[in-house]
Amino acid sequence: MRKNGEQMNNSRPTLALRGVQVWQGLLDRPAQEAIVQSIRSIVAAAPLFSPMTPYGKPMSVQMTSAGRFGWVSDRTGYRYSEAHPRGTAWPAIPASILDIWGKVSESDRVPECCLVNFYRESAKMGMHQDRDEAEFGEPVVSVSLGDDGLFRIGNLTRGGKTESIWLKSGDVVVMGGDARLVYHGIDKTRSGSSSLLNGGGRINLTLRVVT
Ligand code: SIN
Ligand code: FE2
Repeated sequence: MRKNGEQMNNSRPTLALRGVQVWQGLLDRPAQEAIVQSIRSIVAAAPLFSPMTPYGKPMSVQMTSAGRFGWVSDRTGYRYSEAHPRGTAWPAIPASILDIWGKVSESDRVPECCLVNFYRESAKMGMHQDRDEAEFGEPVVSVSLGDDGLFRIGNLTRGGKTESIWLKSGDVVVMGGDARLVYHGIDKTRSGSSSLLNGGGRINLTLRVVT
C-alpha cells in the first residue's frame, strides 16, 4: 500500500468508473515511444499470433506475451502457459513496463505475465472477466498505446447496464479490489486517431500476477 502523503507527480487516477481506475495520460509521448521499442523486442522474440477461441473461432486481436507466463487460447481452452505456441519460453517483461506496475498497482508482487494485444482496424474484444489467475487479490493493470479504444465496463456478472470510455494512448487502467472481476471489453478502435504506431492500430498491455 502506498502511504498517505507519499504523493508523486501523477500519483493518482484521474477517473474511477465502477471501481475501475483510469490514469489518463500517465505516459507521455517519449515514455510511450520507449515502451513501443520494448514491445518490438518482445515481438521479435515471441511473434504475434492469432489465438483460436475454444469455440473454434479465431480472435480478431493478435497476441503475444512477456514474463514467466503467457496467455494462450486454443481448442482446448484458455490458459496460462510457460511456452509460446511455437514452443519457446517468453521473453522477460521489460523494465519500462514493470515501472508502470510499480506506479499504479499498490502491489508487493511482481507481475508474471505481460499480455500484448494488438488491434488492427476492425479488431475488438468481447465482454469477459480476467479470471484465469490464482490470486484475485492482485490487480490487473492495462496500458493503452496507439489508436483510441472504446472500453466498456459492465458488472460482476454477465449482462446489465454498462458504461464506456475511450482509452487513449498513454492511459493506464487498474482493475483491482471490488472491481477486479468486473466484465469488460473493447467494442472498437478509432483507426488513425494516433500516430504512435507505424502502420496504425492499437496495442494493449495487460500486466497480471498469475500464481
Ligand atoms: C483485455 O481486456 O484483455 C484488453 C483490454 C484492452 O484492450 O484495453
Ligand atoms: Fe481483460
